Amino acid sequence: MAKTYPVVSAEYQEAVEKARQKLRALIAEKNCSPLMLRLAWHSAGTFDVSSKTGGPFGTMKKPAEQAHAANAGLDIAVRMLEPIKEEIPTISYADLYQLAGVVAVEVSGGPVIPFHPGREDKPQPPPEGRLPDATKGSDHLRQVFGKQMGLSDQDIVALSGGHTLGRCHKERSGFEGPWTRNPLKFDNSYFTELLSGDKEGLLQLPSDKTLLTDPVFRPLVEKYAADEKAFFEDYKEAHLRLSELGYAEA
Ligand code: HEM
Repeated sequence: MAKTYPVVSAEYQEAVEKARQKLRALIAEKNCSPLMLRLAWHSAGTFDVSSKTGGPFGTMKKPAEQAHAANAGLDIAVRMLEPIKEEIPTISYADLYQLAGVVAVEVSGGPVIPFHPGREDKPQPPPEGRLPDATKGSDHLRQVFGKQMGLSDQDIVALSGGHTLGRCHKERSGFEGPWTRNPLKFDNSYFTELLSGDKEGLLQLPSDKTLLTDPVFRPLVEKYAADEKAFFEDYKEAHLRLSELGYAEA
């Protein structure tokens, strides 16, 4: 069933477009598309279908959520966005953080992801422990993305392609290094690198490698490695669903 989105005022829509421009400038100036994508994903990925708690509702602004172990380093992203929020106070944190993710993908060369504004800021951060553990395998990914968030196997593989951007930082996650040779470019190289095995200077987490051994995940990895257009199409849909978890229910 088609979703119905809240109707926002012309002023609010204008604020969103202004924020989009400011985000483009910020991301170009600071080369921070990876951190902004991670901020959007960690904001949305806490959604729990059964209790309808967590999700993309601006709670990452709260120090309590920034202090979750999985969110190490995201206080930096929150601080970087604060001047935009101060200049455009009309936009909710919830919309600002999700818009930052959409703009990060677009300006790095990825697909243009539709954005529907109108998320409200919620007061209650989610409990700690809802984001995936990088040391675990396919059952865990299905538990978190499938059972908890309500996303599909295809969404898991497509969204894992978000690791085409950025790197691991020893002082944040304990891991170190990028997944691809150009961590500021959004393309399908996450999948081609994954298929061609370990290499000097590049990293694959256990949660990335598990995509190669699972009978449902592997054919999708092969498809996205061979066909960037197919990856962009599925990534766009999966990112849209992620960014709207718990929002504008049909
Ligand atoms: C499948 C489960 C996932 C696991 C276990 C995982 C784990 C991790 C870890 C450990 C890091 C390193 C953080 C650091 O040290 O700075 C990281 C970074 C990152 N993740 Fe994921 N991730 C997952 C899914 C995703 C998804 C779905 C997206 C987005 C669609 C994403 C986007 C990113 C980005 C862009 C970075 C780089 C951040 C930077 O360079 O500062 N990840 N992830």
